[in-house]
Amino acid sequence: MAFNIAIDGPAGAGKSTIAKTLAKELGYVYVDTGAMYRAMAYYFLQQGIDKDDEAAIIAAADDADVTIRYENGAQQVLLNGENVTASLRTEQVGNMASATSVYPAVRTKLVALQQKLAQTTDVIMDGRDIGTCVLPQAQVKIYLTASVETRAKRRYKELLEKGEPADLEKIAADIEERDYRDMHREMSPLRQAEDAVLVDSSEMNIDEVVAAIRGIAAEKRG
Ligand code: DC
Repeated sequence: MAFNIAIDGPAGAGKSTIAKTLAKELGYVYVDTGAMYRAMAYYFLQQGIDKDDEAAIIAAADDADVTIRYENGAQQVLLNGENVTASLRTEQVGNMASATSVYPAVRTKLVALQQKLAQTTDVIMDGRDIGTCVLPQAQVKIYLTASVETRAKRRYKELLEKGEPADLEKIAADIEERDYRDMHREMSPLRQAEDAVLVDSSEMNIDEVVAAIRGIAAEKRG
């Protein structure tokens, strides 16, 4: 049976950085499920669909074929055959993904794809519902979080480094809104699985978080 590591947590907690690093070290495949919700959201934006128009979202979700491919170990997301990976990391797409991931038509389709990927391959998968819904049988479950303040500051720094405009207060407000929506939606809300280990990275650097999770995984793998 494949070995599965699930990492869940709110936006900006550092899940993808940590998961990528560990996947490389362990020779596992890193599966970024947020990118799949973002690809769907990108499609809805392209189609000019309103985030509240459930009927249009249901119809469009049916037309959006999301698949995953790996190039030199890096996940690529294909939307109806086109590689859209480079277009997915904007705030606009992230907010649309948070808003449209509440719909069962979107979730059901992507969860099936995620479960298929993890069946035969050792994976580190990150998202919001991996330990609770997608891979309830995962051998290792981590709930990675950090304070809103820490997460907003990290994002702010990231944007400045990229030379993009950044407003710390606005970023913090967006993060709070996204947390609220991800934690309060009806289907598969973000929450810590009962058997997940809580890691709060507010006062930790990347190396410390990687070391902590590496230790937890090593214990489980024996
Ligand atoms: O991790 P991210 O910021 O790329 O995710 C974007 C949005 O997608 C997130 O706000 C909620 C949704 N999402 C989800 O509902 N379930 C997942 N497993 C991953 C992401």
